[in-house]
Amino acid sequence: MTAKLASEQPSAAAGSRPRGSDAPLVISGMRKSFGPNEVLKGVDLELRAGELLTVLGANGSGKSTLLRCAIRLTDPDAGHALLQGKDLTALSGGELRRARREAAVIFQRVALVAGRSAFDNVCHGALGRMGLAESLHSRTFPAEVKELAACGLERVGLLDKAWQRAGTLSGGQAQRVAVARAYTQRASVILADEPVSALDPRAAEEVLALLADVAHEDGLGVLTVLHQPDLAVRHSDRIVGMRSGEVAFDRPARDTSSAEIAALYEDEQGDAN
Ligand SMILES: Nc1ncnc2c1ncn2[C@@H]1O[C@H](COP(=O)(O)OP(=O)(O)OP(=O)(O)O)[C@@H](O)[C@H]1O
Ligand SMILES: [Mg+2]
Repeated sequence: MTAKLASEQPSAAAGSRPRGSDAPLVISGMRKSFGPNEVLKGVDLELRAGELLTVLGANGSGKSTLLRCAIRLTDPDAGHALLQGKDLTALSGGELRRARREAAVIFQRVALVAGRSAFDNVCHGALGRMGLAESLHSRTFPAEVKELAACGLERVGLLDKAWQRAGTLSGGQAQRVAVARAYTQRASVILADEPVSALDPRAAEEVLALLADVAHEDGLGVLTVLHQPDLAVRHSDRIVGMRSGEVAFDRPARDTSSAEIAALYEDEQGDAN
């Protein structure tokens, strides 16, 4: 089973393309304020196909707001977010919803339907892809969807849990099911906001390793927000440090220093949580 690579995607640019790039997600000049609180102060960030990029930063530095603005769950005040060449800031309605399917989102607290099986939850990813998410309520899924879901569960090593109710899975298993669902959605990018915060150290390692595998082996761009610098350095290809709504550094993980990472937390003035 192979996921789509960014290079196979048509590059249908909508609106202006602030940077010449074929990266699946290109954020440029992103600004967002909530009242007087200037949360994003012109953020540029590029997520490339085949990389695991981690955003580090103190509480309140704007990480979640950046992810939300990137896929227009929150409307930015200024800036662009190009997802597979489509400027989400220029789209609305059905066009926006369709364009957004190229991104799968994983949150800290897994949003699985607790009373349904792992398999049904993963099927939901494929239905979302087809614009049929509402038919989750039906008991039967098209054969094509079932096949995709089985592949997704196999990909994350949980085929044996297919029929277990999601509410009875451990935190680590549930996050892996969330990765399977994202994978089944056939998204080009996965955005994961603190996907391992609720997990024990071993499960956190496993989920991060899985996300890195999905990036490296399947060619997806994977962006995670983490609060564990050691995990970030071990598993990421690139680290972006955010401080008070700005990018403090953006470099290969192997080139980051513990001092500059520590400075993200010492200097942060923007914690208004
Ligand atoms: N909907 C909102 N309305 C008002 N203020 C908001 C809203 N969403 C976020 N903020 C504020 O924006 C700032 C950045 O929040 P954000 O959630 O992006 O931070 P974060 O870096 O993800 O922090 P954490 O590490 O705690 O998750 C905070 O001061 C927060 O209170
Ligand atoms: Mg956050």
